[in-house]
Amino acid sequence: MFYSDELIEEVRSRSDIVDVIGSYVNLKHKGNSYSACCPFHHEKTPSFHVSREKQMYHCFGCGVGGNVFTFLMEHENMTFPEAVEELAGKAGVALPERSMSKDEQKRADERTKIKEMNKIAAGYFHYLLKTDHGTAALAYLTNRGLTDETITKFGLGYSDKFSDDLYKYLKSKGYKDEEMIKAGLIKVDEKYGPSDRFWNRVMYPIIDPNNRVIGFGGRVMGEGTPKYINSQDTPVFDKSRNLYGLNLAKKSKRKGIIFCEGYMDVISMHQAGFDNAVASLGTALTVGQVNLIKRYTDRVYLAYDSDEAGTKATLRALQIMREFDMPARVISLKPYKDPDELIQNDGKEAFEKRIEEAVSGIMFEIDILEHNYNQNDPQERTEFQKEAAKCLSKIMDPLERDNYIKSVSEKYNIDSKTLKETVTAYGAAGAGKVDTSIFRPPERRGSPEEEKEKQQLKTERVLITWLINDNELIPVIKEILTPEDFTDTVYNGVVRLIYEQYDAKGKVEPAVIMNHFESKEEHEKVSSIMQQDFGVEIMSDEKSGAITDLVKRIKRKSIQKKIDSAGSDFNLIKELMVEKKSIEKIKINVQ
Ligand code: UTP
Ligand code: MN
Repeated sequence: MFYSDELIEEVRSRSDIVDVIGSYVNLKHKGNSYSACCPFHHEKTPSFHVSREKQMYHCFGCGVGGNVFTFLMEHENMTFPEAVEELAGKAGVALPERSMSKDEQKRADERTKIKEMNKIAAGYFHYLLKTDHGTAALAYLTNRGLTDETITKFGLGYSDKFSDDLYKYLKSKGYKDEEMIKAGLIKVDEKYGPSDRFWNRVMYPIIDPNNRVIGFGGRVMGEGTPKYINSQDTPVFDKSRNLYGLNLAKKSKRKGIIFCEGYMDVISMHQAGFDNAVASLGTALTVGQVNLIKRYTDRVYLAYDSDEAGTKATLRALQIMREFDMPARVISLKPYKDPDELIQNDGKEAFEKRIEEAVSGIMFEIDILEHNYNQNDPQERTEFQKEAAKCLSKIMDPLERDNYIKSVSEKYNIDSKTLKETVTAYGAAGAGKVDTSIFRPPERRGSPEEEKEKQQLKTERVLITWLINDNELIPVIKEILTPEDFTDTVYNGVVRLIYEQYDAKGKVEPAVIMNHFESKEEHEKVSSIMQQDFGVEIMSDEKSGAITDLVKRIKRKSIQKKIDSAGSDFNLIKELMVEKKSIEKIKINVQ
């Protein structure tokens, strides 16, 4: 650790977890808990919980969990010291200068080198485009309507016909083969050795919001497959957390951000003045991308292709946007395939009009629904109206819901009173109903030994949860169980810390305990103990009985383990047997 425990603790205690997580995730307040749809996995019902009291978060759906530091590590991809520094900065805690560990230094160097190589490659490709070698590529781009200014703005380029010119160029600059491979610029064939990943393609550098080249897309000129080749993910390039064009779109003065599918769409829109366009990088929209965009805007427009795949992608994106409370409108491009085609054919005024006419996500969904049913058939029309009502019932805000009910009833000629009643019926049926299946991981029964061990771990876990939720139990239990009585090493560490904290402060601070664990697995394990709440009031005699039972089981197992490993030390075995017998006398009384 680079900083002292005290300093880390000071930073943590000054950074309220609800504020920190709330700045990345839209938390809903309920009682003394805050919840949201989990930012770490895709879900429809919120199972991600943040507790102000415990200063911890936990997702019952996917099991992630931890304190403010682990949140930044997981969500923002920071190292532990980076997370401490980030929060110290915000909380106004001064930190001493630190030097990086060897490992950290190595990773930082590696990232720096990859960015350097990417920058050199981008410069090289761009340079080639303007030489004799790039004549055809330049003509290709010009024919697609791109101006010189646009080509420069996006740093477009050309990768030469030779299959190793970039390799040689980077080599001459002193980069090693492994480094170039790691950067995704070079690949190695067992027979032919190293060669350029991109050759004879028009090149689109992918630039992050900090203006660093993190990867490339390369397009064949004209027909040919694959149409695009993209950089693989590297230490500086994570497709699921970046968007093409965001480096420019983040500076736009236009309202919202336009999402589209392709590189060419982004470029075409920017050239026409719609400089708030971005594209996901050859994959469906991800949760990471929505998280990213939330920092820059509070509304999005979807301008995906108008074909079936594009419509599917739109519906999917709308669902994700809704889960993140991000208002989304859909731009119709028909009869054209994509924004590029529309602008090339009808011009920028036409596209501006399409933006103005963009429909809200709900109206788009209902429109799609309408086409799925034969409106002349009374039964099918009823089905459609029911589905539409279901769709409307998902709108949480009552005013907004009413407004949509009005629009839908007008547009599709449905009696507004009846529609409203139907929507309410669906709303009432769905309200308060939580999909609990996500709380239960699929059951897998192991061998009897495995089952026993699982049972033992559960016993230990439940007792620790009691200790954390009811600190008065600690002095009682401490008399009987040592940390070593817990078989699991993580639990055993947690118990030791609980005892120490209780002795020092008379209470337990869950989030401090978390600081002592390093790996992701440990964090998840610890946070799952901390977040379990029994949720029911238990009578004190029931509680005494339950705890007595847990303690006995843990003690029995612990002594049995000692007996098993005592070998032929009969005196020890005898002692242990006596101790084991005395377990039966244990009786715990709690209030
Ligand atoms: P499109 O096929 O719609 O291409 O793919 P486009 O962007 O409109 O390109 P042009 O106009 O034909 O030149 C949309 C996006 O999907 C990814 C790329 O990111 C592309 O921009 N894609 C497509 C690939 O990664 N690989 C492919 O082979 C095709
Ligand atoms: Mn296109």
